[in-house]
Amino acid sequence: MSRIKKIPVILDGDPGHDDAIAWVLASTVEDFDIKAITTVAGNQTLEKVTYNARRIASLLKLDIEVAKGRNRPICSDLIIAPNFHGETGLDGPKLPEPDRELSKLSAIEMMAKVLQESDEKVTIISTGAQTNTAALLLAHPELKEKIGTISTMGGGLRNGNWTAGAEFNILVDPEAAYTVCHSGVDLQMCGLDVTEQAIVYPEDWERIRALNNPVAKVVAEWFDFFFIHMKSLGWKGCCTHDPCAVMSLIHPEIFDIREYYVDVELSGHYCRGATVADYTGRSGNKPNCRCVVGLDREKFVDVLVEACAKYEGWEV
Ligand code: BDR
Ligand code: CA
Repeated sequence: MSRIKKIPVILDGDPGHDDAIAWVLASTVEDFDIKAITTVAGNQTLEKVTYNARRIASLLKLDIEVAKGRNRPICSDLIIAPNFHGETGLDGPKLPEPDRELSKLSAIEMMAKVLQESDEKVTIISTGAQTNTAALLLAHPELKEKIGTISTMGGGLRNGNWTAGAEFNILVDPEAAYTVCHSGVDLQMCGLDVTEQAIVYPEDWERIRALNNPVAKVVAEWFDFFFIHMKSLGWKGCCTHDPCAVMSLIHPEIFDIREYYVDVELSGHYCRGATVADYTGRSGNKPNCRCVVGLDREKFVDVLVEACAKYEGWEV
């Protein structure tokens, strides 16, 4: 009798409303065996996003360790995003307090341990700056073979959102993104090309609120908060960035995915942190990345609603 093996997963991020929603989704995926949560400075300081990660783990009853990662990018000064995510990095609904101790291991030690102990290749879902993943690759090149895929939310082949050329997660730590990009590991990138199409409108998150379970109610309130700033920028809904890095793995059929050679701009006055794709193949470089560039928005929303429905009967 054959046994279906689960995919070991590490969730690495800087929660953040959309990171949190990505983790709500990831926790419902039966094929995933979530081995660890690791945090990285980005949307807010490391202390704040780590506290948020522990509160999310508590809300989702994830019996796994949360390990604190890098508190600053490899070369740059830290940029944070309180305009989107508030002073706590996860403003909005009240969350349960952490119910587990923080891991004594650093994120890099935790990632290395998960890889060393795993018989299966491990998927890393990176929804913040790629600082931890880059540090892991630099410290443990021997473990590269144990990584199945690195699925990232970051970049944008056509435009940025923090500067004209750069998306926030890549701009925070371009050297980290460059290291990951050139690692030779299987890469899937959900940049702004897809995430700015992954718009969840108020009527969509009212469907989530109407599910009336404790997790769905929190998700709806995260959208309420996230929308405050998005609306001020002229958006009619929320660009639901980070869940794309999860959903494009489990439902590739919903997404338009292309293979390109991608590089990260490290210098340049206007374009530091920009992700550049060779659409024509004229550089002669082989594709190094599956770039997710489009999606069926309605199906995306349906999957999100179905995931939130799985928390029926949840007690917080
Ligand atoms: C990315 O930046 C962060 O603010 C979000 O959490 C997301 O990962 C979008 O540019
Ligand atoms: Ca994020």
